[in-house]
Amino acid sequence: MNEAIKKTAKKFVIANWKMHGSLEQNHALLESYVSTLDNLKDTQVVVCVPYPYLAQVQSLLQGSGIAWGAQNLAKNENGPFTGEVSAQMLRDFGCEYVILGHSERATAYCESDGNIAEKFMVAMQHGITPILCVGETLIEREAGVMELKVGKQLDTIIDLYGADVFDGVVVSYEPIWAIGTGLAATPEQAGAMHKFIFDKLSQPNEAQKKPVKILYGGSVNPQNAVQLFEVENIDGGLIGKCSLNPQEFEGICQAAESSVG
Ligand code: 13P
Repeated sequence: MNEAIKKTAKKFVIANWKMHGSLEQNHALLESYVSTLDNLKDTQVVVCVPYPYLAQVQSLLQGSGIAWGAQNLAKNENGPFTGEVSAQMLRDFGCEYVILGHSERATAYCESDGNIAEKFMVAMQHGITPILCVGETLIEREAGVMELKVGKQLDTIIDLYGADVFDGVVVSYEPIWAIGTGLAATPEQAGAMHKFIFDKLSQPNEAQKKPVKILYGGSVNPQNAVQLFEVENIDGGLIGKCSLNPQEFEGICQAAESSVG
């Protein structure tokens, strides 16, 4: 891991492969990532893969400027929890990041805000940076309660652990209606929510050592990334479908790189 790149990165572009891939496909995709994205100066690229591929990712990305992570972790340290994977296991495979609270998991596996908050703290305790997903449904947006929804998701963690725990963390605003639909939030919609999140999480005093990074996720492609990444408080993107296509992912990363003034 190139610490110099990571510490000074202003933008983040994170690939969420979801439940996609095979050893063969991953090999080609990761080789392409390394050949096109290893030398970005102002953008930290991270790839979050299914658990079985962590060893492969570790062996192919070790020593590159691209970091990797998982898409979930267990809130328990170890024990009789069939099918779960602990933070320490992720550390064994060099994970520096973990996606938490993705709406696809929250919906399908009934993950509550409280459960996600516990996982958030476990990740922090193990030195794994959480990529915390927040966002509203279409019904909530149409009802005008999107900030209430996102505020509540963040408050669950703040109430338990204090706002300082967001130091250096990645938060991803992912409106549920924009995920996988081809209908991204407009720069105005995303910008308004990112300002709301920024205002809520940034500390009025000097307590904040490392700023929180606020990414946008939901149908990001190389075209809309150009506008989205120029918006104030949008520090990059969490990318689903386009992260599986090397050219599209490169285009998004280049949009992030060019957006840094
Ligand atoms: P898409 O980019 O496929 O819309 O997925 C976004 C997402 O869920 C990233 O976590």
